[in-house]
Amino acid sequence: MENYDYLVVGSGLFGSTFAYEAAKRGKRIKVIEKRDHIAGNIYTHEVDGIQVHQYGAHIFHTSNKQIWDYIQQFAEFNRYTNSPVANYNGEMFNLPFNMNTFNKLWGVNTPDEALKKIEEQKKKARIVGEPKNLEEQAISLVGTDIYEKLVKGYTEKQWGKKATELPAFIIRRLPVRLTYDNNYFNDLYQGIPIGGYTQIIKKMLDSELIDVETQTDFFENKDQYLSTFPKIIFTGMIDEFFDYRLGELEYRSLKFETDELNMNNYQGNAVINYTDAETPFTRIIEHKHFEFGNGDKNKTIITREYPANWKRGDEPYYPMNDAKNNELYKKYKELANTIPKVLFGGRLGQYRYYDMHQVIHAALTAVSQEFD
Ligand code: FDA
Repeated sequence: MENYDYLVVGSGLFGSTFAYEAAKRGKRIKVIEKRDHIAGNIYTHEVDGIQVHQYGAHIFHTSNKQIWDYIQQFAEFNRYTNSPVANYNGEMFNLPFNMNTFNKLWGVNTPDEALKKIEEQKKKARIVGEPKNLEEQAISLVGTDIYEKLVKGYTEKQWGKKATELPAFIIRRLPVRLTYDNNYFNDLYQGIPIGGYTQIIKKMLDSELIDVETQTDFFENKDQYLSTFPKIIFTGMIDEFFDYRLGELEYRSLKFETDELNMNNYQGNAVINYTDAETPFTRIIEHKHFEFGNGDKNKTIITREYPANWKRGDEPYYPMNDAKNNELYKKYKELANTIPKVLFGGRLGQYRYYDMHQVIHAALTAVSQEFD
């Protein structure tokens, strides 16, 4: 098919939502994707009848009814509730911090007793004035016990820096929930698509007006793409698009180590966070629990997630939205505004820590700016 209206770079949720909506409006679209599969970081695939979240645990959650209805067009969702558990040197605690956590930590039974304990600890730590770093900030919010056992090691691994060297603003709030409720998210709607996420993207891209080419990197033919397509939706890294000419934006990367085990149930929960400093990974995911144990009863698939520094060529999983990087991003955005034929979208194109519902929202906003 020739005479495309759009080139979409990246088959993740942003690019695919845009392509789907553009095709609905009769436009012709070519999607290129540098990986050997579609769906970006929400990609799931089946092993032993289990949906494996290849790029980390993905739980869909939103309070926006429109977005919730939108995503249901493409898959049926289960009633999964994110209730991660923390393992601190073998002691298990419920997350987010709630009455179950406080009961295990201190033996307290009521919200009043828990609040008293937190206040006592905050006072004892004597943080005077504005917290100077992440450690002081966290202690001033939740006291020393929660900080030491559930925040410190995990955060230091996540960022690759000591908590005393990290800026306070990384943690604006640490939600303390004074009920016996292990539901991590406050959103009205959450769940996991039965049969995985890839089907969603497959359905979005399933149109006679959309051609998809995997294992195709935009940068191998950048000039040609720029000259032949009337409009480009770019969901890769905005600094890479401009050949890093204003400097590199910072990202965090991850390494995933996946094992197939000959047992039915390894850890009894989909997500267990390892909050001590010594364990090198931050969490273990046991994929079958995202779908309530579906799959082979004699097998289970687990993935250990290791945070990693990012350098060119690594996967840029998380933008590092601190003041310095946001400032640099603004400059790239100004540069992007000078080439209106390219629209930058998604986590990497907009350098924003978007969750899935926010990416859909951002893509639908781009669609209405383009077509309405
Ligand atoms: P995404 O990165 O998915 O897609 C971009 C695509 O562009 C990729 O496929 C990439 O290969 C391709 N590409 C890049 N450069 C290219 C080039 N030069 N040429 C061709 N192709 C190129 N959200 C949530 O709501 N709940 C959750 O539980 C989680 N959990 C979670 C865990 C982990 C570990 C991560 C990293 C992220 C999450 N998320 C999440 C966030 C979620 O993954 C995210 O919101 C969406 O996948 C972002 O979709 P995008 O399309 O923006 O990017």
